[in-house]
Amino acid sequence: MTADLLVCPGCRAFVGGHLELRTLEARGDELACACGRSYPIVDGVPIVVADPTAHTRGELAVVIERDLAPGGAAITADDAAADAVVPRLLEHLSIYMDAHWGDHAAPPAGFAMAAIAERLAQLPRVGLAVELGCSVGRGVAELATRADHVVGLDLGFAAVRRARRLLAGERVEYARRVSGRAYAPASAVAGDRALAAGRATLVCADALDPPLVPGVYDRVVALNLIDAVPSPRQLLAVADGLCARGGEIVLSSPYAWQDAIVPPAEQLGGASPAAEVAAILREGRGLGRPYMIEEEAELPWILRRDARTVVTYSIHYIRARKT
Ligand SMILES: C[S@@+](CC[C@H](N)C(=O)[O-])C[C@H]1O[C@@H](n2cnc3c(N)ncnc32)[C@H](O)[C@@H]1O
Repeated sequence: MTADLLVCPGCRAFVGGHLELRTLEARGDELACACGRSYPIVDGVPIVVADPTAHTRGELAVVIERDLAPGGAAITADDAAADAVVPRLLEHLSIYMDAHWGDHAAPPAGFAMAAIAERLAQLPRVGLAVELGCSVGRGVAELATRADHVVGLDLGFAAVRRARRLLAGERVEYARRVSGRAYAPASAVAGDRALAAGRATLVCADALDPPLVPGVYDRVVALNLIDAVPSPRQLLAVADGLCARGGEIVLSSPYAWQDAIVPPAEQLGGASPAAEVAAILREGRGLGRPYMIEEEAELPWILRRDARTVVTYSIHYIRARKT
């Protein structure tokens, strides 16, 4: 882990028109700030949010969850209430482990990110990249082949914990949903060991308040995150804030707004969200600078939910350079 890429979200402040930041220092099983705040490292993943105690308490079931043996996981899912943490977690991990690592899994599954990965593979090499909302880490692995170092950030601890293990070269077992609450064992191992090679840093953190140094990233990536945060405009502003002059922002989204996640007033662009996102970037609306749109495409994103259900999204992919 490269702790000096991470800054304390508790003490940064604008002082005399300048942003004052303190980088964190690894100290045993936590990251410490000179301001006195500290952030726990659990299972190798630092949890760097404004209030780590509240976050960890809120996510306790997820934080103390160990890698449930796939057989046992099915029993737990069977016993637990429908809206309980574990069944939701199992379902979520089944979808995203397959989506990210299906082509590296046993038994194999479809690789939902194939079209995105193909685009990322064509990008020129850069120094520093960041992926906001990295989930179980395949985007970080792909980006790490085209960057000196990649920071992967996600608020979901269970996902980042698995990303860390996968990118360290470990085999990760998971439960693959077959039908309803019936799951079958599956496992995946990443080909690339970006973490072990020191080419990646993973952190559990909020993409809307990232504990990162602004203005230094050559590539800022947020795949299928815009419609998963309460404020898509704020996410665009954060991405812009992280992006260096001359750097690029890479976004994709199905714009599958859900009112419970993105309040209707925050949903971008009415019937034309893709055009609105492109316009915001081109005009630099609410951003530090305007952007040049270099690439736009409609790509398939196919998520497997169970043995009989796949959901096919058409995602808007856009890559834009900061002027
Ligand atoms: C729809 S999934 C997409 C995951 C991955 N980028 C992909 O394309 O497969 C959205 C991801 O964003 C994460 N997420 C949601 N809100 C977040 C936030 N405020 N900060 C960081 N991650 C967040 C979720 O935990 C989840 O992993």
